[in-house]
Amino acid sequence: MPSTVQSSDAFVFFGATGDLAYKQIFPALQRLIRGGHFEMPIIGVAKSALDLDGLRARARESVAAHGGLDARAFAALSAHLHFVNGDYRDPGTFRQLHAALGRASRPLYYFAIPPELFATVADGLVGVDRHHGARVVVEKPFGRDCSSAQALNRTLHRSFPESAIFRIDHYLGKEPVQNLLYFRFANAFLEPIWNRQHVHSVQVTMAEEIGVHGRGRFYEEVGAIRDVVQNHLLEVVALLTMEAPPDGERDGLRDEKERAFRAMRPLATTDVIRGQFRGYCREEGVAPDSRVETFAAVRLFLDTPRWTGVPFYIRAGKCLPLSATEIRVLFKCPPHPVFDAPPAREGNYVRFRLSPDISISLGARVKRPGGTMAGDAVELLVRQVAGDDMTPYERLLGDAVRGDATLFVREAAVEAAWRVVDPVLGQATPLHVYEPGTWGPLEADQIMAAADEWHNPASVQKHAGCS
Ligand code: BG6
Repeated sequence: MPSTVQSSDAFVFFGATGDLAYKQIFPALQRLIRGGHFEMPIIGVAKSALDLDGLRARARESVAAHGGLDARAFAALSAHLHFVNGDYRDPGTFRQLHAALGRASRPLYYFAIPPELFATVADGLVGVDRHHGARVVVEKPFGRDCSSAQALNRTLHRSFPESAIFRIDHYLGKEPVQNLLYFRFANAFLEPIWNRQHVHSVQVTMAEEIGVHGRGRFYEEVGAIRDVVQNHLLEVVALLTMEAPPDGERDGLRDEKERAFRAMRPLATTDVIRGQFRGYCREEGVAPDSRVETFAAVRLFLDTPRWTGVPFYIRAGKCLPLSATEIRVLFKCPPHPVFDAPPAREGNYVRFRLSPDISISLGARVKRPGGTMAGDAVELLVRQVAGDDMTPYERLLGDAVRGDATLFVREAAVEAAWRVVDPVLGQATPLHVYEPGTWGPLEADQIMAAADEWHNPASVQKHAGCS
């Protein structure tokens, strides 16, 4: 971050009484305040039957339900909290906000609202001349496809320069996701083998035990590919595959990541298997004949000298047997089997476990004690921690307030990611029904090469080796 970047001096969140504020924003604010780096007016904006005391009560409930109430930090949050209650279409709402902002000249606006309202809110801010010097944080999904993402970007750019737009993908704020980059570039032993000569394939699985739980209406608009593949999981692939940024280059990390996105080959219909768990159509807010996918398995290739020909198998689904997100980078087997010759899928690997627990482990083979030269697969545990110390929203909101955009997504990267999935959105591919509690439709195997198979993450870490 350049030293000239100044911190925001007010935090304004639109959608103050909504779900995102309740589940993520209030808890992140309390944590930031507890950390001692967050002294500024906090202004919630929404049209609601609540008054300021009602909003405070909601904030209290929110932090109690998400991480626990910290009496001192919450008292400070409560004291800094203002509420502008009004319709976004009413210029009076923005006059109230203008007054609440007082002398603040570098507000951070968090648009925790549906994208259809972005233009209305941005125009309202321009109407009271409160857009200069501001930053704006916007939530995914950034559009529904490439062309709507471009339209959304044009809307935002009418009022804010690209440098002031912070697109949140909470995955980038996760500790183990950051560690992907760190582990890759801080260790010399990986670089020589992190390429097509040595890597056989890569699997990324994001399994969720829950269904759509009261989010049926939202989910109907997105489906698994738009909800998590286009953003979280392609971001993970970009971090796994990007080149190291040149030394000291400002924003070099985002430049390299963007190149990785551009190298991803747009998916063909034969690269994708979509599934829907049985019973999804009976969820609240879901059409009885919905063809929206709750599971997607994808085979992706990157056209770069480092990665050409290496398949990236990506899988995400709801109502799977357990919740876990894992990456498995599988290496090729030794070229000449001196001893036993296990199948390719049992080769050495690096496994990054992103959730619910966090670990990095290496898969290797060792000789089984005894008279024969035969071995077993073991795992060398590199690192294991119970969970994230810092929540993604705490990290990302703190960064946005300080003006550090490193972990935020650029317009070009968002559009490149949409170009990858655009050809397979909607009904472009068949939909297969799967039973809740299974690993998705059996058809998901079809995108795998004959010798490969999906590796299903375990619910509890099992380490055969030592750390
Ligand atoms: C969100 C998706 O972006 O990520 C949800 O909209 C999904 O459908 C969630 O459940 C998963 O995030 P996490 O941090 O719980 O793994």
